[in-house]
Amino acid sequence: GIGLTLFDPGYINTAPVKSSISYIDGDKGILRYRGYPIEELAEKSTFLETAYLLLYGNLPSAAQLANWEDAVMRHSAVPEGVFASIDALPHDAHPMGILVGSICALSAFHPDANPAIQGQDLYKSRAVRDKQIVRVLGKVPAMAAAAYHRATGRRVSPPVTELTYAENFLYMLDAMGDRSYRPHPRLARALDIMFILHAEHEMNCSTAAVRHLSSSGVDVYTALAGATGALYGPLHGGANEAVLKMLSEIGSVDNIPDFVDGVKNRKRKLSGFGHRVYKNYDPRAKIIKKLADEVFSIVGRDPLVEVAVALEKHALSDDYFVKRKLYPNVDFYSGLIYRAMGFPTEFFPVLFAIPRMAGYLSHWKESLDDPDTKIIRPQQVYTGEWLRSYAPASNRP
Ligand code: SDX
Repeated sequence: GIGLTLFDPGYINTAPVKSSISYIDGDKGILRYRGYPIEELAEKSTFLETAYLLLYGNLPSAAQLANWEDAVMRHSAVPEGVFASIDALPHDAHPMGILVGSICALSAFHPDANPAIQGQDLYKSRAVRDKQIVRVLGKVPAMAAAAYHRATGRRVSPPVTELTYAENFLYMLDAMGDRSYRPHPRLARALDIMFILHAEHEMNCSTAAVRHLSSSGVDVYTALAGATGALYGPLHGGANEAVLKMLSEIGSVDNIPDFVDGVKNRKRKLSGFGHRVYKNYDPRAKIIKKLADEVFSIVGRDPLVEVAVALEKHALSDDYFVKRKLYPNVDFYSGLIYRAMGFPTEFFPVLFAIPRMAGYLSHWKESLDDPDTKIIRPQQVYTGEWLRSYAPASNRP
């Protein structure tokens, strides 16, 4: 028989999670962070200002913003042991795998932030939480830069805290020790906008993972490592890498009909299309498509853009996709921008993980503030054998 749970024994999470951080209307293609439309934030805000909004609920005053930017940038230095743990990995390790491991390593270097060491009430202190927030936002770009340079064998340049968040990230990646180096300001701004767009997205797979791990009382670094592991997947944050591989495989506009036939025969997915929530155009994809023109005006147009635009047009006029309400999502055009900026495809998911730390930390903080938060244990319906008795191997067929 099937053991259906005919009643809720009270220990299973059945109610949806309550959150005030971001709002999505999938049918209308709306995304708002703390009530602000993503379009306005992408145009007028910066990543660090938006991160403050997500974490603390309101846009900061000028003084709060200056203190906030200073606090985050002052925490850009990473413990040497974390870099050593990265150097111990193979040269060709995937950068997302390196990032997952280095965030976990960061936990070991911050015993003061670990409830398993300091006691379960540790995170009741606002000061302790705020300290971890600036540490993570400050250090993850440098760790991501180290993950990038694992392949090149070069050292990450020490941070220049006077630069903006995105400029400093590009500086650490590209300066090669030349303190006078400065990234292209408009490319840095384009990356800053990409960081705003990727910062938060309600209860997606990896954000749900942060809530899952945090609900067990584990330290925040270990919870973030788990979330980054979920984001690594090609159906989630790894999709931007999969899109570029798909566009390169298609190669030219003439090959689109055959490729789309393959998708319709379920031989493969159309990466960068479809979404759990959006059954309309992902508002972030619209902004990214426009931003791509800005980036291409600086670094030259990527020939694969024609394939992407033609593929989108073909899919949006094909009943298979229209009927299933499959539209481009945040990942469909983002990879073209990252490739145009010189990043290798395997690094694209890392560029998703860096800003999403702001969303993860916001949900971590919100779950700590919620008195109803219990250890998360999803409901199941048991469909296995009901009851059997043991027989020794000699009596088994
Ligand atoms: C992100 O959740 C978030 O918010 C995530 C994210 C964030 O900011 O955190 O937005 C970031 O992960 C964006 C999504 C990136 N992933 C991809 O681009 C990978 C390709 N997309 C698909 O794998 C898929 O669309 C998912 C995983 C995103 C959603 O999967 P679902 O929920 O199973 O899709 P669905 O229920 O809407 O599918 C409806 C139908 C199904 O066909 P039928 O079985 O009903 O015949 O559409 C089909 C699906 O098979 N389908 C696709 C498709 N996506 C769905 N068919 C071909 N290509 C696709 N991309």
